[in-house]
Amino acid sequence: MGLQWGDEGKGKVVDYLADRFDAVARFNGGSNAGHTVVIGERRHTFHLIPSGALKGKELLVGAGVAVDPSVMKDELAMLPDDARSRLTVDGRCSLVSPMDKELDAKLEEMRGSSAIGTTRRGIGPAYAMRALRLSPRVSDLLNGFDFGPAESFYKKFGLDTSGLDEWAEESRRLLTGLAGDTGARVREVCDGGGSVIYETSQGTLLDLVHGSYPYVTATHTVSSYAPAAMGIAPSYAGEPLGVMKCYVTRVGGGPFPTEVSGELGDRIRSLGMEYGATTGRPRRVGWLDLVALKYAVELNGVKEVAISKLDVLSKVKELRACVAYSLDGSETHDFQGSLPRLGEVKPVYGPPISLQGAEFGSGLSPETRRLIEYVEGELGVRVTLVSYGEERSKTVSL
Ligand code: IMO
Ligand code: MG
Repeated sequence: MGLQWGDEGKGKVVDYLADRFDAVARFNGGSNAGHTVVIGERRHTFHLIPSGALKGKELLVGAGVAVDPSVMKDELAMLPDDARSRLTVDGRCSLVSPMDKELDAKLEEMRGSSAIGTTRRGIGPAYAMRALRLSPRVSDLLNGFDFGPAESFYKKFGLDTSGLDEWAEESRRLLTGLAGDTGARVREVCDGGGSVIYETSQGTLLDLVHGSYPYVTATHTVSSYAPAAMGIAPSYAGEPLGVMKCYVTRVGGGPFPTEVSGELGDRIRSLGMEYGATTGRPRRVGWLDLVALKYAVELNGVKEVAISKLDVLSKVKELRACVAYSLDGSETHDFQGSLPRLGEVKPVYGPPISLQGAEFGSGLSPETRRLIEYVEGELGVRVTLVSYGEERSKTVSL
């Protein structure tokens, strides 16, 4: 689970942990996600395919995912030849059409200065089309679907639907042979003694209902959604692992209490190479926010946490951690209660923490241990994984 506003390092963690599982499943979001795995000099960014693809694992795209067939096609083309034969896409997945992407852009323009800053990958419109029961799902597309109502709807927004037939045909070509029942497959794997890891997209604070609405994505991003989205009982979902960066980033609009701007912000952005893996946009950066993290930990029921990008802050003099919010002269630790006025709260920082000069690799240095113990104490979790560089090997299990 992502414990912040996305880009916590989930792809790297899933790639690392995939060795211990038989299958890797994505259950939410769509190609708005960008999960990066770096092997030697090679950088792979996954948008739709689960990050276990490079470990030769079985790959499941669960029913909660909004599938853009053109992105999936391009992604499969970049992967080893056998990736397609290891992949099952649930027949209940929503589809993202070119019109959904156009609608995404139009809606953003309509919002003007209060634009969400979406990835424009059509995710919101695709899920809306599902809620309106206008769009086909994967299995509908493969079994013949009446696009009449969807087409009339798109036309009302002035969208050109002339490419719809061709898109449907190309999508059918890609999805034929891939569609299946991923929930049933999970049960088969687990009942046979195997195991599955579920990879979320986005972070908890981007959850459609529990995040910083309206500056959120269009799906749930919390752990309790994984079973519903996969079509399995909660007992198949196991214990959630939270992934957090030792600072925070956010792409797009919306409040960000611990945002750091100016030279220091630019420096952290450049040290951490904080540019969107999907859109290339510079990510906004900020200090660790323990108020928001505590909320995310509770919401997900997380007891174990992975911390990423520790190397980045070892090159900065000191780091800060927000321990409370101040609003109207009083302090609060209530993230949910602060949400309607999140843009107005002022962060209250604890004493500075230093990771400067921390070494990684041959054991963790005292600075790193202190930070880990601090996070464990504040959040009531155990840090079980640490990542200190983007390359796959720069990860330690604790
Ligand atoms: P991963 O999985 C960071 C953000 C967008 C925007 C908001 C809504 O890599 O962590 P959308 O296109 O979803 O309608 O945009 O959500 N967003 C992400 N930010 N990481 C992501 O994915 C994101 N996916 C969406 O920037 O603010
Ligand atoms: Mg990302």
